[in-house]
Amino acid sequence: MAQPAQQQCPAITYRKMSFKDIRAVHEIEGESFPSPWRARTFFARLLLPDHYGYVAAADDRVVGYVVYRVHMRTVHLQKIAVTKAYRRRGIATHLMQMMLDLVAAQKADTIYLQVRMSNVDAQEFYKRFRFQLDHIEKHYYRACGEDAQILMRNVVIRDDGA
Ligand SMILES: CC(C)(COP(=O)(O)OP(=O)(O)OC[C@H]1O[C@@H](n2cnc3c(N)ncnc32)[C@H](O)[C@@H]1OP(=O)(O)O)[C@@H](O)C(=O)NCCC(=O)NCCS
Repeated sequence: MAQPAQQQCPAITYRKMSFKDIRAVHEIEGESFPSPWRARTFFARLLLPDHYGYVAAADDRVVGYVVYRVHMRTVHLQKIAVTKAYRRRGIATHLMQMMLDLVAAQKADTIYLQVRMSNVDAQEFYKRFRFQLDHIEKHYYRACGEDAQILMRNVVIRDDGA
């Protein structure tokens, strides 16, 4: 008897972001953030020696990305996003873990990020990575006046939580 055609899930690969990726990254940015970066902001950041970008690709189509800055021993996570159709499949988890491993190798010790008070989904994601509230930045998002939670964690967390 003929077997039903199997639905293949494309394998996800992870690699450094290149300038050629920016168009696709910018599309995901537009569907993911109320005040998205412009494409030229991604170009400008990638040119800076202390900024890093990585993408997740499904069959060579970009489906997620992370952008961060390492200054001295401090990391600022600037962007992490996954296109809607590929969320809840562990892609952001992989991007985050990859970044943590890379910055640990660079001897960074602390990582900060900001998240909108209303972005409960992202806050849940960061909780999984044991980020903690450092402080609240009032009216951080100027366009709408929304506050930001500034979250932080040590790059390396020992099993006893230190
Ligand atoms: C936040 C975001 C990057 C998560 O990407 P993702 O690839 O779907 O995340 P993962 O699949 O790795 O999720 C890992 C865990 O985080 C938590 N999580 C992720 N998305 C969640 C959601 N929408 N609601 C509740 N918990 C969520 C869950 O615990 C999840 O594990 P589970 O799926 O086994 O329950 C994605 O929702 C996104 O792109 N959002 C828009 C951009 C954004 O807000 N970025 C952060 C800005 S500060």
